Amino acid sequence: MNIPQHVAIILDGNGRWAKSKGMPRNYGHAQGSKNVERICEDAYRMGVKYLTVYAFSTENWSRPQDEVDALMKLLRNYMKTCLKTAAKNDMKVRVIGDISRLDEDIRTRIQELTEATKDNGGLNFQIAINYGSRDEILRAVRRLAGDCVEGRLAPGQIDEAVFESYLDTHDIPDPDLLIRTSGELRLSNYLLWQLAYTEFYFTDVPWPDFTKEELAKAIEHYNARDRRYGGVKEEQKEDV
Ligand code: IPE
Ligand code: IPE
Ligand code: MG
Repeated sequence: MNIPQHVAIILDGNGRWAKSKGMPRNYGHAQGSKNVERICEDAYRMGVKYLTVYAFSTENWSRPQDEVDALMKLLRNYMKTCLKTAAKNDMKVRVIGDISRLDEDIRTRIQELTEATKDNGGLNFQIAINYGSRDEILRAVRRLAGDCVEGRLAPGQIDEAVFESYLDTHDIPDPDLLIRTSGELRLSNYLLWQLAYTEFYFTDVPWPDFTKEELAKAIEHYNARDRRYGGVKEEQKEDV
């Protein structure tokens, strides 16, 4: 089995999952957050090296304030537990997104967690918080334009590698497999640049029910894909 080096996940369906059980949406978020911890361990055991999860988008601020508050509280708690559990998977944790809009205590916890895990050599775990791909690209362009104006960079030097070095994901390889749970067939502003040649897997399973068996199924589908990157397969080269 060919294990994707980098798996990116759009964790979706917490609210609908809770509703189907007659529970409030925030209960779904709490269960979803527990599932993130489980999947980190499962992914690492399966041999995945990079895991990037979409926890809160730049558009999610438009949800009711109570729900936003509950999500922020979960993130706070998650950072705290993660500080203890990161050692288990030898996890190196990073946050992508514009964290400047988050409360100061959450930012401090993110810094602590990043610092405490930076030398770990196991799972590279990225959490996207207040992340939007268009926002990430704009922030990158602003810094890049600033460097050009100040003469540190010439416009002619800007190639893909230079541009990528300005993105939040700068030293992280592009995802091999993208998984979105709960049936929606869209990217919702996730990693638009980085997903250029990623294989997509959509499942109706809501995030709180997404188990290691579901992850194995996604990887099985990934294995059946033929990644051509615009080229042709070796055996087709003679059919021209
Ligand atoms: C995903 O679940 C979690 C976040 C976006 C924070 P949703 O909250 O989007 O759940 P649904 O899609 O409404 O069911
Ligand atoms: C995408 O899910 C964002 C996260 C999973 C954090 P949403 O549920 O917010 O996306 P839409 O609104 O269905 O596009
Ligand atoms: Mg959703």
